[in-house]
This record gives sequence, structure tokens and C-alpha cells, in this order.
Amino acid sequence: MGFFDFMTEDIAIDLGTANTLIIHNGKVIVDAPSIVAQDRTSGKIIATGMKASMMQGKTHENIKTIRPLKDGVIADFEASEKMITEFINHIPTIKKKLFKPALRMVICIPSGITEVEKKAVTNSAEHMNAKEVYLIHEPMAAAIGIGIDIMQPKGNMIIDIGGGTTEIAVIALGGIVCDKSIKVAGDVFTNDISYYMRTQHNLYVGERTAEKIKLQIGAATEDLESIPDDILVQGRDLLSGKPKQVQVSYREIAKALDKSILRIEDAVMETLSQTPPELAADIYNTGIYLAGGGSMLRGLDKRLSRKTDLPVYVAEDPLRAVVRGTGVALKDLEKYKNVLMK
Ligand SMILES: Nc1ncnc2c1ncn2[C@@H]1O[C@H](COP(=O)(O)OP(=O)(O)OP(=O)(O)O)[C@@H](O)[C@H]1O
Ligand SMILES: [Mg+2]
Repeated sequence: MGFFDFMTEDIAIDLGTANTLIIHNGKVIVDAPSIVAQDRTSGKIIATGMKASMMQGKTHENIKTIRPLKDGVIADFEASEKMITEFINHIPTIKKKLFKPALRMVICIPSGITEVEKKAVTNSAEHMNAKEVYLIHEPMAAAIGIGIDIMQPKGNMIIDIGGGTTEIAVIALGGIVCDKSIKVAGDVFTNDISYYMRTQHNLYVGERTAEKIKLQIGAATEDLESIPDDILVQGRDLLSGKPKQVQVSYREIAKALDKSILRIEDAVMETLSQTPPELAADIYNTGIYLAGGGSMLRGLDKRLSRKTDLPVYVAEDPLRAVVRGTGVALKDLEKYKNVLMK
């Protein structure tokens, strides 16, 4: 270990549209919503992560909440840098250091990202005192995080359904053979639910409420093994303007989400149809792996399995698979040098 290694801290980051996760010293030490709350007049950041998320939809004119990422890529650089800097500065081992340490970072990026967007992520990291920055594609990180041996001459299909994007990739020999990224994922599901509530129940609900409905009774199919009870949803009546409550069933939500799930199914079918036959044979034997928070939608695995006639497995900890894989790559930069981009 050289002198500078002593002054360097290693960090793996999954900067997601919905959640930011950071691994340091082998542990997930940040797992927070990708949101900042800012004072409009002074421009100061008042809160980040969970605290900022609680403020969403409940702000007054002096405060605004920002989600710095959209569709898997950074949309607001200033807010995103401030958010990550906040997260990193609160890591106990870094916080107690006298001098701000230099950082060695592995950051994951969507597979559909452009060169310009890639450069922007690297620049951002350099502003945060990163001396070495490596990028890794999300589906690759997810595969490593799930525990797949990506270096083998064997095809594996990974689908990462996050907040902003669904990334579908076939991986073999440490590389992505074919992939597809679509902007239909958790955020779109949440919007579908808001739209359904407005048009079918004349009920105006905020984003947080729509997401709560998704988590409590969201479903990709009406044909579920364990059926969630109906829930009561509160919001504003669009006609009278009064606060109101309605009862909603999982069947309604399955209908509301159907079109978006169809788009994911189509993208999966398209990727399968572009897969070279030898790898298709492997996938026939191993099945499809799902990661990302969106993969926890009830019945989604079953629906994709029915569509593809393949077994579909949801990762053990789908929200953390990508960051875990990024952390594994960070720990062994030499082994993973071919999947990392400098
Ligand atoms: N139990 C659940 N059922 C359905 N959706 C869920 C569940 N839990 C979390 N989600 C959704 O998962 C999404 C967040 O997943 P994840 O953290 O993997 O996304 P992300 O990595 O931030 O986004 P991206 O990779 O697209 O940039 C959110 O839309 C959230 O609502
Ligand atoms: Mg993600």
C-alpha cells in the first residue's frame, strides 16, 4: 500500500433515479432517496435523502424539492453533486478525517448512456475530489451483484427495473452482447396509477400517495397467488375540490399498469430475438434474472415467465444488487478491468 492509498477512500456508487446507494469498506452505508430540498432564495440545500423525500409535495413557495436524476441520467448536475457530496461527507470514517480524502470511485451508469453523459458523470465525480473514476454498466453490476460469474463463456439475461429505466442485457465473457434500455420503470408505474386515480375515481393524488398504492397493492397481473386486500386512498376530489377517500383494489392497479408492463414485455422479447443462438440456448437453461426495485411488483416475474416461457428469478435483494456488484468490482479492479471504463 503506497502513501497515497492511505489517503484515498474507496467508494462504490449506484446513483439511481429513485435511490442512491453507496458502499464503503464493503458495507452499504448510504441507501437514500435521490432527492434534495433547496431554499429557493438562498439556493442552500436544506435536506437530502429521506428527509427531503418526506417534504415532497408538501413544500411552500420558499422550498423546492428536486430529483436530480431523470430516466437514469443526471438532469440537474449542481443538485446531484451537492446531494452526493452531502451523502459522502456524512460517512462516519470520512467525516472524522482532518483533511478531505481523495476518492477512488466506481460509479454505475445505464447501458444506454451517451458519451457526453458519461463524460459528465466523470466530471461530476472529479468535482467531488475523485482522483480515479471507473464506470460500470448497470446490468453488468447487477449480474455481478446477483452472484453470476460474468466472465464465463455462458449467456445470462439480466433485467434491471429501476425507477427511471428498465435495462435488459445479455451478458457473456465479461461483456454485454445485446441490450435494450427503455424509459418505462417504477416512475412510469407510479404515474400510471396517478392517471388512473384521476380518470377513474376523479381523485387527485400526489406522487407519494401513488407510490404508496403501488407498494401496497400494485400488481402486474390479476392472476396473483397471494391477493392483497383493498386499500383506502385519500386525495382531492377533482370535481368538488374537497378532500375525499376511495376504496381501490389490486385488480384496478393491474389494469392501470398493463400498458407499461406490455412495453417491458416487448423490449424483453426484442432482446431475446437479437440474442445469438448459442447464448439463447444458455438462457433457455438458466432463465432470466430480475433486479431493481421495480422487479418487486407483484406478479411481474410470473407475467414475464409466461410471456417468454422461461423461468424468471427475482434477485435476493433487488434494490441492492447493482450497488453490491459495483462494490465487488471496486474491491478487485484488476479482475474486473475489462468491464470497467476509466
Ligand atoms: N415492493 C415494490 N413493488 C413495486 N415497486 C417497488 C417496490 N419497492 C420499490 N419499488 C420501486 O422501485 C423503484 C426504485 O428502484 P431502484 O432503487 O432499483 O431504482 P433506481 O436504481 O433508483 O433507478 P434507475 O436504475 O432507473 O436509475 C421505485 O420506482 C420504487 O417505487
Ligand atoms: Mg438502478
